[in-house]
Amino acid sequence: MANRPIRIAPSILSADFARLAEETNAIDAAGADYLHVDVMDGHFVPNISFGVPVMKALRGLTDKPLDVHLMIAPVDPYLEDFAKGGADIITVHAEAGPHLHRSLQAIRALGKRAGVALNPATPVSAIQHVIDLVDQILVMSVNPGFGGQSFIPEALTKLRQADALIGNRPIDLEVDGGVDADNAKALADAGANVLVAGTAIFSGNDPKTYAARISALRTAATSTIA
Ligand code: DX5
Ligand code: ZN
Repeated sequence: MANRPIRIAPSILSADFARLAEETNAIDAAGADYLHVDVMDGHFVPNISFGVPVMKALRGLTDKPLDVHLMIAPVDPYLEDFAKGGADIITVHAEAGPHLHRSLQAIRALGKRAGVALNPATPVSAIQHVIDLVDQILVMSVNPGFGGQSFIPEALTKLRQADALIGNRPIDLEVDGGVDADNAKALADAGANVLVAGTAIFSGNDPKTYAARISALRTAATSTIA
C-alpha cells in the first residue's frame, strides 16, 4: 500500500444550510483537511443540492481545499465554472457521460486536480485506461444522492482493487458514504486515504462536537498497520 497521508473531508451536505457560514467556519477550525462539496442535479442522482454560487460562497469562507464531487450529467459544460469558482479537486463520475477521458483532460487543463468517482455497481476496471489522467479515485460506498445511508461492504473490495491499480502513482484514494469511526480503520487498511464523512461529523449540527469527531476518524484511520 502506498504511503498516502490520511485526509478527513467533512461533507457540507450534512451541514445546517440555514447556518452555512457558521458551520463552514466551525468545520474549518475543527481540523477538516478538505471541505467535501456534493453537487447534485436531480437527473444523474435523484436529489438536488446546490451549485456553483453556493460553492463560491464556501470559497470565500475557508482556505481549505474544496473537494468538489459532481453528481451531474452532463458534466463537461460546467467544469470551467466550478474551476473558476474556486474548486481545488473536481471529481466527475465515470458513469456521467461517454467521454470520461475528455472530462479528465479538461479538468487538468483548467489547472485542477482531476477526480473520478465510481458508483457501487461500476468496476474499478472502468478507469484502467484513463488512470494516468487521474489525481484522485472516489469509491462510492453508498448509492450517490443522499447523506445518512448505510455503508456497502463491497466497497472494501473495490478499494483494494483501486489501491492495486494505483500502485506507486501519486493518486489519492477517497471513500464516500456511510464512513464513520467504526469502519475507518478497515477503510484505511483497504487503501483509502481520503475519508468523506457527512453524518458522522455533522449529526446534530452542534459545532462543539466537530473537532472530537474529526479527530476520532483520524485516529481510527491512522491506527492502521500498513
Ligand atoms: C452522497 C454524497 C456523500 C454524502 C455522505 O451522495 O456523495 O458525500 O454526503 O454522507 P454520509 O457520510 O452521511 O454517508
Ligand atoms: Zn460526496
